[in-house]
This record gives sequence, C-alpha cells and structure tokens, in this order.
Amino acid sequence: MFDFNFNWKPEMEVGVSIIDEQHKELFRIARNIEQLVITKCIGVQSKLLLDIVCDLREYVSYNNYVEATFMTEWNYSGKEEHIRQHDEFCKKIIGIDCKRLGQSPYKVLCEIKETIQDWVFAHILMEDKKMCQELKQKGYTN
Ligand SMILES: [Fe+2]
Repeated sequence: MFDFNFNWKPEMEVGVSIIDEQHKELFRIARNIEQLVITKCIGVQSKLLLDIVCDLREYVSYNNYVEATFMTEWNYSGKEEHIRQHDEFCKKIIGIDCKRLGQSPYKVLCEIKETIQDWVFAHILMEDKKMCQELKQKGYTN
C-alpha cells in the first residue's frame, strides 16, 4: 500500500459543511491510529485502543445517520448504492474484534488504517463528492 497520511486538505471537501466536519473528525481518529502505528504500538494502553474503537463506532453511526437524512431529504438518485456502501463500512467497524486488538494492536490497527484509507479513496472522495454535487445542483446551500 502506498504511503498515505491523514492530513486534511481543502481539496478533500465535499462542499456540504456538516459532512466535511464529520470527515475531518474521521481524519482526527485516523491520525491517532497513525501515530500508534508509527510507534509500533509500543506500551500502548488498552484504554486508548478502546477509545479509538468507540470513537470510530460513534463516527460511523452518526455519519450514516446524517448522510441518510440528507439523501432522503434531497431525494438523491444514488441513495440505495450509497447506503449499501455505508452498511459495508459500518459492518467492518462494528466487527473490529477488541480482544484481537488487545492481543495484536499493531497488526489490527494497520488493518483498520487500511480500511479507513480505502474508504477515503473509494467512498469519501468519489461517492460523497458525487452525492453532494447533486444536492447542490438541487439547491442545497450551506
Ligand atoms: Fe457517504
């Protein structure tokens, strides 16, 4: 996998401020993961690992809710497929095995980091941008 850092860049914005704020929150969580991966998780406390999992789970459920609300409200043409992708991502985050994470934090955090990275490229920068573009065409303004 190529080198990617979770540093937020303005060109990543989808243009709907509430959603952009959430994406920034995902990057914040991902940067915490990144830091632990850089230090190979040496001496990591299980409380910190659990906090990261909780933050991620909270993020996915809130982001799913907000985007679904927008899509319904603006009758987004790609809603069904968009929700399917969210469900898939959600399943991966909810399915994080905390016991395994505690036993092999470095390995599992690398996997989670890659999952989020894939989500950024395949979903946020493609699908979310597409969705927000349609919303704006239909008259949404921040
Ligand atoms: Fe989305």
